[in-house]
Amino acid sequence: MTFKDPASYTDLSQGKIKHIHFRIGVDFSTRTLALEATYQMQEPVQGSLYLDTFKLGLQEARAGDRELAWEFDAQDDILGDRLHVQGLEGDSTFTLTFRTSPEARALQWLNASQTAGGSHPFLFSQCQAIHARSIFPCQDSPSVRFTYSAEVEVARGLVAAMAAEQVGVEEGIEQTLFRFRMPQPIPSYLFALAVGNLDFRELGPRTGVYAEPETIEAAAWEFAENETKIIEAEKLLGPYLWGRYDLLILPPSFPYGGMENPRLTFLTPTAILGTRGHLSLITHELAHAWTGNLVTNATWQDFWLNEGWTTYAETRITEVLEGKDVTDLHLAFNEKQLIAIMERVGMDSPLTRLKLPAERDADSFTTTIPYYKGCFFLQECEYAVGRERFDEFIQTYMASFQFQSLTTEAFLDFLNAELPDVFEKVDVHTWIYETGMPDADARHKHNSHLYDEVQQALDRYKQGVKPTEKQIQNWHRYQILSFLQGLPSKIPVEDCEYFDNILELEKRNDVAVFSYFYVIAIASGYEAILPRVEEFMGKIGRMLYVLPIVRAMIGTDGSRKHVRPLFERIRDHHHQITVNAMEGLLQRAGL
Ligand code: BES
Ligand code: ZN
Repeated sequence: MTFKDPASYTDLSQGKIKHIHFRIGVDFSTRTLALEATYQMQEPVQGSLYLDTFKLGLQEARAGDRELAWEFDAQDDILGDRLHVQGLEGDSTFTLTFRTSPEARALQWLNASQTAGGSHPFLFSQCQAIHARSIFPCQDSPSVRFTYSAEVEVARGLVAAMAAEQVGVEEGIEQTLFRFRMPQPIPSYLFALAVGNLDFRELGPRTGVYAEPETIEAAAWEFAENETKIIEAEKLLGPYLWGRYDLLILPPSFPYGGMENPRLTFLTPTAILGTRGHLSLITHELAHAWTGNLVTNATWQDFWLNEGWTTYAETRITEVLEGKDVTDLHLAFNEKQLIAIMERVGMDSPLTRLKLPAERDADSFTTTIPYYKGCFFLQECEYAVGRERFDEFIQTYMASFQFQSLTTEAFLDFLNAELPDVFEKVDVHTWIYETGMPDADARHKHNSHLYDEVQQALDRYKQGVKPTEKQIQNWHRYQILSFLQGLPSKIPVEDCEYFDNILELEKRNDVAVFSYFYVIAIASGYEAILPRVEEFMGKIGRMLYVLPIVRAMIGTDGSRKHVRPLFERIRDHHHQITVNAMEGLLQRAGL
């Protein structure tokens, strides 16, 4: 190995984990998991082994009948505690017994009142990027893959779901035991567990959905077409190698839109719009089954290999399923979004490079820059050699690196070997290693007549003519978003009220539209919006839409003083990851 993962204590020279067998007890009363994990290593290990942990209470380490010495010998707020297991004597297997902390970063424990049904508690995990270590000691780097099996014991009446194959259920008097196995090797960040009052509904031969009984009907309708998406994705990316593709609908505090946990995408309930209109989110998470889960970034500095490729695949699949007009609209929107985010972090910030800096805090550099910039770079590669050759390249790439992790440099070597002429036409080095965007004349422009229609409405607005309700009635959801995206950051309060009405925001129930609108309303001093903002913030955890609101409140004189108290009122409703992100924004603003 020629790289070191800055976000992990892992020392690959000591050996690599091959398989873990978990026994997991779920205790809602103490908000802890009690675990026993038996590790199998690729090779026998001599002496020491370093494992990543975060606030884990270790009870025992054994190799067969030998007790092993261990200590936590390094500590860091972000990396966590380094577990140093000692005295391994060429052992290939050992067992650790431990408990998670109620503050485990990967876990959110919800009271019954925070669920759709209101009668059962709920637990879910979110391990990406570096939170698996708060559930079990591991080599928490995406360059290490292992298989696993698990037995999960929960109180009767609750259902356990994992991003793995369910292989058995045993009902006891007070407890139910769920058995799982994950025969394909995964990196630790794709470990996932949820427990709640869950129903399951079959959707297609390989697809289904888990949700609370109150949500299952709406979810089954919304995602009925998932099988069609897999078929299209397979045409582009090769065979789907994970068996099933199910969804799990989480409570609204889930910090992301979706998380591509293998076999079981975790999804925000806000994706259920009642219109089957959130295609791009599912397409994105599904595409990760190849770009990310099958071929994985070796470190979080190479995150664009996951997200840029996935966003590119998403646009290709959208083109087939929704047509070129809609895809072009998405692309034009994404380009504007990319420039706005780059301007926010600074055009010369290292965060604008595709190859990210070596940082311990893998979460703090997860902006959407690698998504969009990575996608646009891959499009340039496609244009350089033509779609036919690029499509062949995609299939070879997937087949050559399946179940492996690679660095940006390894990818570029492969690109150079397979499609050397890309390097003649595209300034690859600038795209990957330079900040900002390559000059406009060195890249293709995204033309979209649907987007242009919105730009005309925006131009007229700037000249004092507001769009009418009739005019926007048939706008595509992304046209509405593009309109909000293009409005000046501050507008007259009467106009906020006007747009609130003609966009029929209340009826729409679309968090993306809410978020864009609330940001403008806050900056414009439209105070009538604040109770709705508070309600939104108390419920929705999807950071992509929540954090811009926090930023807007921080950046506006009238609302700045309200943001810390608001945060204190809502923090208990949110996942640790969301809480940490909000706390970070407030602290950096001196609040
Ligand atoms: N894998 C990401 C979510 C993620 C990224 C979790 C980094 C932890 C660290 C997921 O695939 C994703 O990108 N979700 C987006 C949706 C996407 C369509 C932009 C989200 O959550 O909004
Ligand atoms: Zn993604």
